[in-house]
Amino acid sequence: MPEFALGPLRLVVEHRSVDGDGGPGLRVLRASDARELLRFDCFRRAPHWHVDPDGRDEMTSLDRFRDPVEWTIATLGRDLAGLLARAGWSDAPALEPAALARALAEVERAMRNPPVDFDALDLAMLRARHGEKWAHYPGDALPAWVADMDFPQAEPIRAELERMLASGDLGYPVNPTSKALPALFAARVGERFGWEVEPRQVEVMIDVVQGIYVGLETLSAPGDGVIAQTPVYAPFLNAVKETGRALARNPLVAGPRGWEIDFDELGRLARAPRNRILLFCNPHNPSGRAFSRAELERVAEIVVDGDLRVISDEIHADLVFAPSRHVPLASLGPEIAARTLTLMSATKAFNIAGLRLGVGHFGGGELRERFLSVPRHVRGGVNTMGLRATEAAWRWSQPWLDAVLEYLDGNRRFVERFVREQLPGVRHFPPQATYLAWLDFRELGLGARPAEFMLERARVALSEGESFGEEGRGFARLNFATSRALLAEILERMAKALDARTSG
Ligand SMILES: Cc1ncc(COP(=O)(O)O)c(C=O)c1O
Repeated sequence: MPEFALGPLRLVVEHRSVDGDGGPGLRVLRASDARELLRFDCFRRAPHWHVDPDGRDEMTSLDRFRDPVEWTIATLGRDLAGLLARAGWSDAPALEPAALARALAEVERAMRNPPVDFDALDLAMLRARHGEKWAHYPGDALPAWVADMDFPQAEPIRAELERMLASGDLGYPVNPTSKALPALFAARVGERFGWEVEPRQVEVMIDVVQGIYVGLETLSAPGDGVIAQTPVYAPFLNAVKETGRALARNPLVAGPRGWEIDFDELGRLARAPRNRILLFCNPHNPSGRAFSRAELERVAEIVVDGDLRVISDEIHADLVFAPSRHVPLASLGPEIAARTLTLMSATKAFNIAGLRLGVGHFGGGELRERFLSVPRHVRGGVNTMGLRATEAAWRWSQPWLDAVLEYLDGNRRFVERFVREQLPGVRHFPPQATYLAWLDFRELGLGARPAEFMLERARVALSEGESFGEEGRGFARLNFATSRALLAEILERMAKALDARTSG
């Protein structure tokens, strides 16, 4: 049960199920003697609150047309002292307003996020989904390819989408450029990554890959060279090709502790006059590297020396496992910021990729002007559900994300152990970020396309390594964002297929 200390009070959040009803509740207790002073039962059907002066239980219904959690938090924020007095504690010590606001924000998030059982995925329900991950391969294949998670979305996102449908709220959205989302983005990256940004530097767009395409079109010219750390997320390669730019490969190299940037080669490429852009991926897909501050400082130095511009895809920023931390490249200083377009979204970490919404931060005004030179209607309007879901994710859904990360960390360890013990010959560095494992099958002699082998022989759909560039030949990428039971089944199928091959 989440619990928060607030001066002389304890705030206890409960998620209850009561006679077919239920929902979040908040108990306000006096810390010294654990006496319950106030209780808010934000139930779905009959939300109400209690105050118990002298043991008399006064119960008041809440307005059923208002969000009961919102009402509770707003009421406590406005008049906690008055409510405590009504509960019989008129000389309660005064609370510092900033501490109260912080505690109420935490309480609100806890109330909006009931515990989730990530083990409880129903295979029949997954198979009935229409998304690419589950719908593409028919029959008995288990998909571990496209980077979607199998988990249900955070409750605040689900509730917001449901509210929109229930009230027919599918009209044109408020222009997101001027409104809440950029401010929410700025607050979030400040809090999570210590990155100070101005909301006016932020543009909302359809998705991150769109940002890459528009960025390439507007920040470079046809024929310019674009540097990327290969193997890399396939749309990077397509974007460079389809915009008529030239890929300048800077292949990652296997060091003792994992995939590393070849800085000598990067420096050489950055000095070549033809190369104008670094198309950067951090955390890196498919290697799962979260580049360290020291590595990023070297990248920034090379970029500035080579007078490059950077499109930095940081979509996996929220999926970094401790002790690694995400460091936005543009947060390293004004010189690198001025030449960097950073792309992020809530879609990957909160599992809402189908809602299509991305955010771009422009560290320099000139980058922004160029980007916006593509007319707004060519760039396209954003989806109102994507917008509201992203707001619900960033405002309220952090407890869900914390729980997902803990579960994914367990899966990451499970994969690491399984590969070491039961897939001999497969090489793998556990990722520092993302829910993707980059598996090297080259020693096993499966040929260039191990994912094809696994689809045919194991009925497991991985992403083929060579789709991430020629350096990926003989590799495959495994998506481990599923229940532990399904992950075990996927890995066991793979082990059996390899066994059958060696014994047969
Ligand atoms: C590195 C990277 N960038 C972008 C995307 C897709 O972003 P969007 O759906 O916003 O285009 C993905 C999806 O897996 C990704 O891994």
